[in-house]
Amino acid sequence: MRIGILGGTGPAGRSLAARLASVGHEPVIGSRSAERAAEVRDELVAQWPGRELNIGAEDNAGAASCEVVVVATPWDGAEDTVRELKAELEGKVVISMANALARLGKVFQPLTLPRGSVAVSIQAVLPGSRVTAAMHHLPAKELGELDHDVESDVLICGDDPAARKVTAEIVGAIPGVRVLDVGSLANALPIEAFTAVLLQLNVRYKTRAAIRFTGIPDPE
Ligand SMILES: NC(=O)c1ccc[n+]([C@@H]2O[C@H](COP(=O)([O-])OP(=O)(O)OC[C@H]3O[C@@H](n4cnc5c(N)ncnc54)[C@H](OP(=O)(O)O)[C@@H]3O)[C@@H](O)[C@H]2O)c1
Repeated sequence: MRIGILGGTGPAGRSLAARLASVGHEPVIGSRSAERAAEVRDELVAQWPGRELNIGAEDNAGAASCEVVVVATPWDGAEDTVRELKAELEGKVVISMANALARLGKVFQPLTLPRGSVAVSIQAVLPGSRVTAAMHHLPAKELGELDHDVESDVLICGDDPAARKVTAEIVGAIPGVRVLDVGSLANALPIEAFTAVLLQLNVRYKTRAAIRFTGIPDPE
């Protein structure tokens, strides 16, 4: 599947692009600069010789023309980015992985936006798209280490069940990831906010924490 990644030149987007390509998708790195997207694509291909990663590179509008589109910009650029691409994103599954956070010294602070979460804010800007929220807690470094499984649960939410299913299929194909469906897009608020806890754990324990829930049987 062709999967566009808006803001795909950052650590999260580029790691996601490499990982999706490694499992047979055709990610397209999007950027405000098509040249920057191409540079990042070339770096990834050079980083993983022999894997023949099929990664595209375009400006954000080019990435938004894909079948499914991921928002991987900082939270404060997400709404404006998708607003400009409203026509391209109409009717599509749009997956937000953006977290609304601020760092105050060594303290990570979750931010509550006027509509709650970044994902709900994106849905408000794109009423004709099917917004889901996913992958907020996946550390970019582990996501991009293609020789290793990711070893994390990923919480997915969204108001359109079919869009959640598409998202679950894409994310669930990442080796080591177990997808957990938490229903309504309203749950994006606590999911995004919890990222501040993980980042605080990273600082405290000098690590990159991910999440695993107990008590949930694996799907058959
Ligand atoms: N890093 C992680 O481990 C991780 C894990 C899970 C989720 N996330 C979330 O994923 C998102 C991206 O994370 P990141 O660490 O990759 O972020 P980032 O490096 O700060 O930003 C990603 C890309 O977004 C573009 N961008 C920057 N400011 C923008 C703006 N105002 N408007 C539009 N585009 C802008 C830039 O690309 P161009 O300049 O090329 O356009 C940049 O390379 C964040 O919301 C973060 O909370 C991050």
